[in-house]
Amino acid sequence: MALRQLGWTNLQLTTIGLGTWALGGGEWRWGWGPQDDQESRITIQRALDLGINWIDTAAVYGLGRSEEVIGKTLQGMVKKPVIATKCSLVWDEDRMISNSLKRGSVRQEAEDSLRRLGVEAIDLYQIHWPDPEQEIEEGWGTIADLIKEGKIRYAGVSNFNVEQLKRIQPIHRVASLQPPYSILRRGIEDEILDYCSNHDIGVIVYSPMQKGILTDKFSKDWAQNLPDSDHRARDSRFQEPELSVNVEFVKRLSEMAKDKGKTVAQLAIAWTLRRPEVTAAIVGARKPHQIEETVHAGEWELDKNEIEQIDELLEARSDALEKVK
Ligand SMILES: NC(=O)c1ccc[n+]([C@@H]2O[C@H](COP(=O)([O-])OP(=O)(O)OC[C@H]3O[C@@H](n4cnc5c(N)ncnc54)[C@H](OP(=O)(O)O)[C@@H]3O)[C@@H](O)[C@H]2O)c1
Repeated sequence: MALRQLGWTNLQLTTIGLGTWALGGGEWRWGWGPQDDQESRITIQRALDLGINWIDTAAVYGLGRSEEVIGKTLQGMVKKPVIATKCSLVWDEDRMISNSLKRGSVRQEAEDSLRRLGVEAIDLYQIHWPDPEQEIEEGWGTIADLIKEGKIRYAGVSNFNVEQLKRIQPIHRVASLQPPYSILRRGIEDEILDYCSNHDIGVIVYSPMQKGILTDKFSKDWAQNLPDSDHRARDSRFQEPELSVNVEFVKRLSEMAKDKGKTVAQLAIAWTLRRPEVTAAIVGARKPHQIEETVHAGEWELDKNEIEQIDELLEARSDALEKVK
């Protein structure tokens, strides 16, 4: 599988990384409905067998559950994959989530992640959200100290804008940014990709299939039957009036992908990788067959015509949205 270097670091990442938010299951505020841990472990193992060499997670996914399942799956493995995890979202005994980048909180979070993951050092530690914004320097300075202590190898951030990146760069050089990026969410093309490229910051993009919308299985029926414990049931992209427009859009993408003997998911992921500033896509999977399909997205280099065709379909989607909103 193709490898790209993560910014200025010496990490060589496969262009597809495994995303494990959904492995946190349904019993928390940002859940994905019921998830079986055994199925999660099989999915992780399958991803590694297919050649994927890194996994993205976060302490908050399932309130520790995603990290624990990864730790158990990798236990005893001689050559473990690169692990990227995140801090800043903490929870109390009532499972209420809040944000903190205070020194003591970040230190405690890092220790807890090390224990759950069963590793001596975290390969890539990321601030999940720049929130509380006035604490980003304190949180980032703490992470710089943890690097000196050998508990973290490299540090990155997620969901930061250019101004926030500029604030923390003098404290410690940023290795990577993890922003949202998909055919339906292109905000980073305005200035973030340029800034990262100019400062040799790796970019690992999340939700490339827009949480399951950009896949062949996406339909009205499927979206309207998501369980209450799946946060997507509250996402406007999965609800009318946007839902019908998105279903129609995915149908058009599907025809295009089928013409090339590919799937919508592969098309959506390949589209994010067309940008040279993007190091890799974080591809969520909760069942082995999903990653068996999406792992091949990295082999598809979209040509100019295909990219233009997607732009045209996007324009038609915008027009349709204007009419229904
Ligand atoms: N830093 C952040 O703030 C942030 C935010 C979001 C995500 N992330 C990271 O990025 C990763 C990926 O993003 P994501 O999980 O939000 O979205 P995604 O990768 O766009 O979509 C993943 C979901 O799509 C469905 N899916 C996957 N492969 C499929 C296939 N072949 N066919 C049909 N459906 C398929 C699965 O859910 P169903 O089977 O239930 O549909 C899966 O959980 C996360 O797991 C997480 O590691 C980070």
